[in-house]
Amino acid sequence: MHGSDADQTSPPEQIALPELRTPRLLLRPWCDDDLEPYAALNADPEVMRHFPAPLSREESDRHARSIRERAARGEPALWAVEVPGTAPFIGFVGLAVPSFRAHFTPCVEVGWRLARAHWGKGYAPEAALAALDHGFDVLGLDEIVSFTSVGNAPPRRVMEKLGMHRDPAEDFDHPSLPEGHRLRRHVLYRLSADEHRRARSGSRSR
Ligand SMILES: CC(C)(COP(=O)(O)OP(=O)(O)OC[C@H]1O[C@@H](n2cnc3c(N)ncnc32)[C@H](O)[C@@H]1OP(=O)(O)O)[C@@H](O)C(=O)NCCC(=O)NCCS
Repeated sequence: MHGSDADQTSPPEQIALPELRTPRLLLRPWCDDDLEPYAALNADPEVMRHFPAPLSREESDRHARSIRERAARGEPALWAVEVPGTAPFIGFVGLAVPSFRAHFTPCVEVGWRLARAHWGKGYAPEAALAALDHGFDVLGLDEIVSFTSVGNAPPRRVMEKLGMHRDPAEDFDHPSLPEGHRLRRHVLYRLSADEHRRARSGSRSR
């Protein structure tokens, strides 16, 4: 098919958000069938333990719509993650531009949220590695950050597995959460393009 045909028939988000493949996963643009499993994981109190509250179906759909609109505008975006042949949608992994202001913004973050049945298999770091490659090699970013509430251990482990590093002096209070909120204190992890390339070429030569 010619490129011009693809431009006429593909939804804009598909053009802006290319599919990425990893050894076990497909990172792809969102589709309407993702909305139901996305609402199910957003309604799971364990998945949402480190967020203010689980999401209603309406809130979940609104969040998915905003993810798809950002992708369609060509902004760094969150992919829907599929385990081909096993699970058509397990959650999201990808890039985003935080909308709040802090000492490290503007910036691009890498983030993830997976259904509980798929935790502990290394899917988030595997998908995030592809998202980081895309961010540095295709989008040409100099740095990608990640952050979470201090007590949220699993994503902090994922950040460490990706070679990201934290300076405690950069811990911050999330401006969207009120003073005294149990999740307000956040840690910040950073990764530069050079650090990522060095780590990638080291792992390839081993
Ligand atoms: C963060 C998240 C995406 C990690 O995904 P994942 O694919 O399970 O990542 P990994 O398999 O590499 O596991 C990361 C760590 O999670 C922890 N973990 C794994 N399975 C777990 C389980 N069933 N229950 C609790 N923690 C678990 C382990 O500490 C693991 O580290 P280890 O590999 O050194 O033992 C996932 O836990 C999640 O969706 N959490 C809820 C949403 C969230 O908090 N997102 C981050 C907001 S910033």
